[in-house]
Amino acid sequence: MPSRGDQPGSARPGEAGGPSEAALAGEDARTGEAPGAGEDARTGEAPGAGKAAWPDIAHAYDVVAEDYAATFGGELRRKPFDRDLLARFAATVAGRGPVWDVGCGSAGHITRYLADRGVQAAGVDLSPRSVAVARAQQPDLEFRVADMCDLPADDGSLAGIVAFYSVIHLPRHRIPAALAEFRRALGPGGGLLIAMHGGSGEIGRDEWLGHSVRVGATLVSMAELTEKLESAGFALRERHARDPYEGEAPTRRLYIWGEAV
Ligand SMILES: C[S@@+](CC[C@H](N)C(=O)[O-])C[C@H]1O[C@@H](n2cnc3c(N)ncnc32)[C@H](O)[C@@H]1O
Repeated sequence: MPSRGDQPGSARPGEAGGPSEAALAGEDARTGEAPGAGEDARTGEAPGAGKAAWPDIAHAYDVVAEDYAATFGGELRRKPFDRDLLARFAATVAGRGPVWDVGCGSAGHITRYLADRGVQAAGVDLSPRSVAVARAQQPDLEFRVADMCDLPADDGSLAGIVAFYSVIHLPRHRIPAALAEFRRALGPGGGLLIAMHGGSGEIGRDEWLGHSVRVGATLVSMAELTEKLESAGFALRERHARDPYEGEAPTRRLYIWGEAV
C-alpha cells in the first residue's frame, strides 16, 4: 500500500562538482513549448497567445535532437535528487516487466539509467529524429516513435512509466488524456514517475539550443498535478518539489510517484 509521502522542498541543489557546465539555454528549453502531439495537441492553447495552434513539438525536437543529446546526455551527474528518485523507482519496478521512458528525448540517458539498474527499460518519443539519435547514443537499448496519448502498448502490459519533462509539452487540456493512457498501459500496481515544471499558465519561445524553433510548455501546480493523477486512477506514493539546481531554468521542479490502482 503506497504511503502518501509529501516532501515538498525535500531536495536542494549542491552536488559536488556542480552543474557549472550546464547550458542554461538547454535548461530553458525544457520550459519551452512542446511540439504538437498529434492533431488534438495542435488544437491546444498556444503559450501566452490565447487560442492558437500549439507548436509542432515533434518538429522542434527533430531540429534540436543532436544538440539536445549533447547538452543533456550527462545531466544526471549533476542532479543527485533526480538520481536518487530514479534509483528508488527502478528498485521497485526491476524484474516486474517492461518500463517505458515516455518522451525519452534524444539522449536516452534516463532510459540508460533505468536499464543500468536492472530495469527492462525502453524509450518512446514523438520526435523521429530524437529516437534515431537515442538509438545511436544507446545502441543496446530499444527506442521507438510514439505519442504518449496513444501508446503502442497493450492494456496493463507495462510495469512502469517514467515521464520526465515530456508531459510539459502537451496543452493543458490534453494532459488528462496522456495520464489516462499511462493508466491504461500500466498493470495494477504499476509505477508512474513524472516530472514537471511548477507554475501556472503556459510559456513559450522561438529559439532553442541555437535553432529557430517554436516550443512551448504547460506549467502546473502540485495541487493540479495531484488532482489530475488521482482522477486518472493513480494513488500517490511520493510527491516532491525542489528548487532548480544552478544552471537550470528557474522553475520549481515537481515530481510525483504514483501507483496505478
Ligand atoms: C524536454 S524533453 C525531455 C527528454 C527527457 N525525458 C529528459 O528528461 O531529458 C521532452 C521530450 O518529450 C517529447 N515529447 C513531447 N511531446 C510528446 C508526446 N506527445 N509523446 C511522446 N513524446 C513527446 C519530445 O519529443 C522531447 O524529446
